[in-house]
Amino acid sequence: MYDNWEELEQSIVNCQKCKLCQNRNHIVFGIGNKNADIMLIGEGPGADEDKQGIPFVGKAGQLMNKAFEALGIDRGSVYIANIVKCRPPANRVPEADEAEACLNYLRNQVILVKPKIIVLLGSTALKNILGKEYGITSARGKWIERKGILYMPTWHPAALLRDETKKIEFWKDLKLVIEKYHSFS
Ligand code: URA
Repeated sequence: MYDNWEELEQSIVNCQKCKLCQNRNHIVFGIGNKNADIMLIGEGPGADEDKQGIPFVGKAGQLMNKAFEALGIDRGSVYIANIVKCRPPANRVPEADEAEACLNYLRNQVILVKPKIIVLLGSTALKNILGKEYGITSARGKWIERKGILYMPTWHPAALLRDETKKIEFWKDLKLVIEKYHSFS
């Protein structure tokens, strides 16, 4: 574990801890306010993210940005990262060994950001962070507290692209996050 961003970022640039390094164009480290109260964790980079090295810049990310705008969340004020930092082939779910190899980077990011709230975007984030026993359908929309951090599981934005009816729940869950955030100040 590193106690500063420079060393953490340096430690990852040539990462070959798992097979996802073989086809990557860019490592998608994370982006945003490094002192954010709110952190969002997705699954892994897609094609657009792999091209640009920035999380959530593709269609799912654009939809998430729209929700942010509607709810008055400035994308630059939060911190956004993923379970794995390199793109899985054909956007498949990261395999257990890939997530395992990558998770310490994310844990280190959480330690450095010190968020009060972590939004878990979808099943992969939920299961890898809080445990395999959780299911996104029943866990979403409910606060879970662990070691002083409040977790809000919700749908992955890509799920909203497949099923419009999930949009309302996603909006509702983010609204809970914003209300909680405002209650701190
Ligand atoms: N989906 C994710 O889970 N993360 C991204 O960065 C983009 C799409």
